[in-house]
Amino acid sequence: MSYKESYTQQLRSNFLKYTRKAFKSLPKMEKPRVLDLGCGSGLLTIELTNLTNGDIIAIDIDKGLLDQLNKKIEERNLTNRITTKRMDLLKNDFQDNYFDLIWEEGVVQLIGFKKSFKVCHRILKVGGYLVLGQAIKTMDKNQDLITKCGFELIKQLNWPEDCWWTEYYEPLERKIKEIREEKENPDIFENISVIEAEIRMVKTKLKDSDCAHYILLKKRK
Ligand SMILES: C[S@@+](CC[C@H](N)C(=O)[O-])C[C@H]1O[C@@H](n2cnc3c(N)ncnc32)[C@H](O)[C@@H]1O
Repeated sequence: MSYKESYTQQLRSNFLKYTRKAFKSLPKMEKPRVLDLGCGSGLLTIELTNLTNGDIIAIDIDKGLLDQLNKKIEERNLTNRITTKRMDLLKNDFQDNYFDLIWEEGVVQLIGFKKSFKVCHRILKVGGYLVLGQAIKTMDKNQDLITKCGFELIKQLNWPEDCWWTEYYEPLERKIKEIREEKENPDIFENISVIEAEIRMVKTKLKDSDCAHYILLKKRK
């Protein structure tokens, strides 16, 4: 993992407290079957093993990220708790009504809300939960799909306003400033100008980054 990746992962882990809060608002589930959808390098996957005593299947389309997760699983002796699969959600071979819980953060907007909701509805048990970590603005545009696709919105837990700025981009900007002032080795980040452009973009539309966890219940259609 490059320094940039490990530094941004460290910043990304600031948001795990919101994941924990959302998880704790779910009814207690004994040994649930959990899908971590679009697990990436597994920040949430590992956290889920602390939050639940169930078995977790973590899927992603990116082999490099899954390799990183597999390394973490080995290092933490979690092979009996987590199974990883290189799989596209839209081409999954899971049985109908299989999972008690599907967790996603920052993934369904890449795949498409309607397609993702349909697939998640098929593979979730009736009474199972789909938990989304999404930008409020994006979710607002897709709210009507929740009931259309057979779910009920049980709860919305907003993250603090501007937390993407205060807990992620601002520290990242400070780190880059240190590099620019030669207090840090410039080689520790690849492509500083790309990160700077991302920071500039976020700064101009801070409200667009405001996020929430959405807890959706699968209803019988
Ligand atoms: C923004 S990252 C989120 C990673 C992780 N959930 C997190 O919060 O740190 C989105 C992830 O979704 C994965 N992804 C994109 N399309 C997918 C698909 N069709 N099926 C499964 N995973 C997908 C990407 O490879 C990427 O790792």
